[in-house]
Amino acid sequence: MKVKNICCIGAGYVGSPTMAVVAKQCPYIKITIVDINESRIAAWNSTDLNKLPVFEPGLDGIVKEVRGRNLFFSTNVDKAIDEADMIFISVNTPTKTYGKGKGMAADLKYIELCARQIAKVAKQDKIVVEKSTLPVRTASAIKSILDNTGNGVQFQILSNPEFLAEGTAVQDLLKPDRVLIGGDTSSKEGELAMKALVDIYANWISKERILTTNVWSSELSKLTANAFLAQRVSSINAMSEICEKTGADVKEVSKAIGMDSRIGPKFLNASVGFGGSCFQKDILNLVYIAKSYGLNEVADYWEQVILMNEHQKNRFSDNIVSTLYNTVSGKKITFLGWAFKKDTNDTRESAAIKVADNLLNEQAQVSVYDPKVPEERIYTDLDYLNTRSSDENKSLLTINNDPYKACKDSHAIAILTEWDEFKNYDWKSIYKNMQKPAFVFDGRGLLNKEELKEIGFIYYNIGTGN
Ligand code: NAD
Ligand code: UGA
Repeated sequence: MKVKNICCIGAGYVGSPTMAVVAKQCPYIKITIVDINESRIAAWNSTDLNKLPVFEPGLDGIVKEVRGRNLFFSTNVDKAIDEADMIFISVNTPTKTYGKGKGMAADLKYIELCARQIAKVAKQDKIVVEKSTLPVRTASAIKSILDNTGNGVQFQILSNPEFLAEGTAVQDLLKPDRVLIGGDTSSKEGELAMKALVDIYANWISKERILTTNVWSSELSKLTANAFLAQRVSSINAMSEICEKTGADVKEVSKAIGMDSRIGPKFLNASVGFGGSCFQKDILNLVYIAKSYGLNEVADYWEQVILMNEHQKNRFSDNIVSTLYNTVSGKKITFLGWAFKKDTNDTRESAAIKVADNLLNEQAQVSVYDPKVPEERIYTDLDYLNTRSSDENKSLLTINNDPYKACKDSHAIAILTEWDEFKNYDWKSIYKNMQKPAFVFDGRGLLNKEELKEIGFIYYNIGTGN
């Protein structure tokens, strides 16, 4: 079967970049991305490409090329489901905030709503693809909903988790390390459905990089990949604290261990802590699954990755307070960066949020500059914590879209995101306009320590001390 019409439910950070790249590479497939969020769809349809809801290097050019050609954004979910041969579900699967599994399990209500809507609307056989990250065995729940419509429509469920990282999404989609497709390997229909999806990716990805497995391996591999990646960050962050106590330099340690080909050099940058919408959510989900099978040691093992990450964020803000003579009350502290990593406007679970909250508890005056994150997002992130009223957050935290103004008169600068532009600032002029002694707390090991010290800054770096 050759797929000619795709519907993707969910126009977020995964659905839209992924489908834009599929549309670019497969001009013969018509793709409609649908979402219930009207303003998000309107923004994807905006003629001003700077207004696209997701900032990703290279994405605007691709959207310009394919939008209106074979990629469409719409709020008409039923129509797109009806017309499609293949439906990707790419909706959010956040951590549950209520009921059983609160704070740990994945909230699958959006997934189930999609399955029910597909069941209601579909009149012809369809392949349904799980693109969202899901607990292992979710496909059986989707299948049970779809198989009980009583209208004779046949569904095949595939798992096709996404491994793109934000900030490099376009490159990751064009040149993925691998594509993973899980399906019903025991039936002819299952094999055919998997082949239909393999054939789409094979338009630009070599067959050796397209793995096919059973559905459960595919679902679990996604959680496993994120758990391993996050574990590397927590491991190097744990070493960063030992480095600070012993005079070792975490960058030198990372390099030394990364040259061992069994360890490899990537993902060994010590930091203020990992953020992003998925690492914490997916590990919590894994911990919940392990616990639900009574595998308590397995659960405790993975939970430690998150506990270490929390510690790293708290340790960063504690160090700011103790270094500034044990009080930051009334002192201006400037954050350079609010996004959870560079080259994205996404702030979900960003370390900056927790560090800001801790410092605001100490009555600091926090000033924020981020090149891509809009002002209202920063306040929403803080208000969401419910630590203090929205008015209090507004009076204690200010946002400036000029980095030099953001830094003026501050006692300390904290680097929360590794945006490249921070490296090229005129640090002499920033120093001149700050309170003295002027401190820099580099949560990303981004700046040149010797240069900053030469200018006069007191400079702290994760994993090297000062
Ligand atoms: P997102 O919140 O950016 O987008 C999800 C979209 O789905 C939202 O716009 C929401 O309005 C829409 N939606 C929810 N329910 C809907 C429904 N019933 N009908 C139509 N639209 C609906 O989320 P995201 O970051 O794109 O993540 C989506 C999934 O992909 C998650 O499971 C996540 O774990 C996984 N994932 C994310 C990343 C990443 O980098 N963000 C990478 C790999 C995998
Ligand atoms: C991560 C994975 O890398 C993707 O493969 C996966 O698809 C995605 O999660 C997901 O499922 O959502 P992402 O969160 O976008 O991608 O970005 P990463 O590059 O993995 O960074 C995550 C966090 O770890 C960031 O806060 C980053 O600054 C931090 N990090 C990363 C470090 O602190 N040190 C490192 O060495 C690497």
